[in-house]
Amino acid sequence: MDKQKLYIETYGCQMNFADSEIVASILSQEYSLTSNEKEADLILINTCSIRDNAEQRVLHRLTELMSLKKQHKNLRIGIIGCMAERLKGSLIDNEKVDIVAGPDAYRSLPQMLGDNTYNINVILSETETYDDISPVRYDTNGISAFVSIMRGCNNFCSYCVVPYTRGRERSRNLQTIIDECRQLAAEGYKEVTLLGQNVNSYRYENYTFPKLMQAVAEISPLLRVRFATSHPKDLSDELLEVMSAYPNICKSIHLPAQSGNNNVLEHMNRKYTREWYLNRIAAIRRYMPDCAISTDIIAGFCDESLKEHQDTLSLMQEVGYEYAFMFKYSMREGTAAHRHMVDNVPEKEKIRRLEEIIALQQNLSLQSNQKDIGKTFEVLIEGCSKRSQDQLFGRNSQNKVVIFNKGTHQKGEYVQVHITGCSAATLFGEVKE
Ligand code: SAH
Ligand code: SF4
Ligand code: F3S
Repeated sequence: MDKQKLYIETYGCQMNFADSEIVASILSQEYSLTSNEKEADLILINTCSIRDNAEQRVLHRLTELMSLKKQHKNLRIGIIGCMAERLKGSLIDNEKVDIVAGPDAYRSLPQMLGDNTYNINVILSETETYDDISPVRYDTNGISAFVSIMRGCNNFCSYCVVPYTRGRERSRNLQTIIDECRQLAAEGYKEVTLLGQNVNSYRYENYTFPKLMQAVAEISPLLRVRFATSHPKDLSDELLEVMSAYPNICKSIHLPAQSGNNNVLEHMNRKYTREWYLNRIAAIRRYMPDCAISTDIIAGFCDESLKEHQDTLSLMQEVGYEYAFMFKYSMREGTAAHRHMVDNVPEKEKIRRLEEIIALQQNLSLQSNQKDIGKTFEVLIEGCSKRSQDQLFGRNSQNKVVIFNKGTHQKGEYVQVHITGCSAATLFGEVKE
């Protein structure tokens, strides 16, 4: 009998994209994947709850997809991931979806879909890491892959829903991570990104994150290694030492600051101060003067004063970030901030602060890129540039996008590119033959 067809749509962070590959693998006996939702027998939406607008976008898309049921009576639609965990049975009662599965319930999907004995599983686990499952890499460029090394989060930043939607932190078996990366290298992948909400607290038996990085970096000098995300409170000198010792560990650290003000940081329960954060930045610069640093910033958190907001701007200036993800605070039910604080920065003011942060970052990114003009970088080619078939794009170790003329080069190659120009978002250059 022909397999049924599965269409997966993924929202949210890289961990969700990695999870969708695990779900595809778990369902591969019964379903083959399709990229066309109209021919699907099963549609799964892997969802994100981090901010209200992330959820609204999914609910809007869900209405569109539900209308496909008019043409296809046997079509089943499921919500999986963080919204499934947060909204649970209400998705069945209110949105009329067929299946609801939280992030630790994916192994039960074949049974849920097979005999219809139950259609919701949102039980969180303290041990599930899916470490024995080989992800189906259905949506990659064949060059770069995500590898999940841990799940969950124990940090309970007061604004954040992740510890509730993903459950307790747990690290994946080291050997299975190494085996997966080796396999990827053997299949021709040139880059792996190790994923966790706070990779610096990775611990499996006696192995810590620096040890894991070292082991992955030693698989092949041609396999680049990246990671995300680092919590500033746990960024150790030992990791910086390992990073600086291996040319194939990319010189780029995502170190979310969230705010530059100590009072706000304390209310956010981030467990570090501005001074501690700047000390970690200094350590990065000491070990790796060429390392790119990026951040996440939240504008307009509860009680944030104008002066406190300005401290965020001054922190950004002081660090000179290469890149930033910037958000306005969105209150999430059930979090400590929702229970104990008031979402009292007016919406208009939040938007104004966010715009100020974005404008500053635009300048910082441009300044950083301008400093690269005249330098030469090793670039891993990822594909054709969006603008022109005659141009290729790739990234340098610092994770900056570089565009250059194609010549005889191809996806997956490493090339030396001399930088001749830039915008705030992109470097332009010429390949040195
Ligand atoms: N584990 C990562 C972050 C994961 S969530 C870390 O701790 O760095 C990605 C980003 O979303 C966060 O860094 C934060 O900037 C933002 N974010 C999380 N909750 C938010 C909320 N309630 N409102 C606005 N932004 C939020
Ligand atoms: Fe959320 Fe904080 Fe955990 Fe990051 S470390 S996922 S921001 S609770
Ligand atoms: Fe979103 Fe869940 Fe990731 S809330 S950011 S998909 S862990």
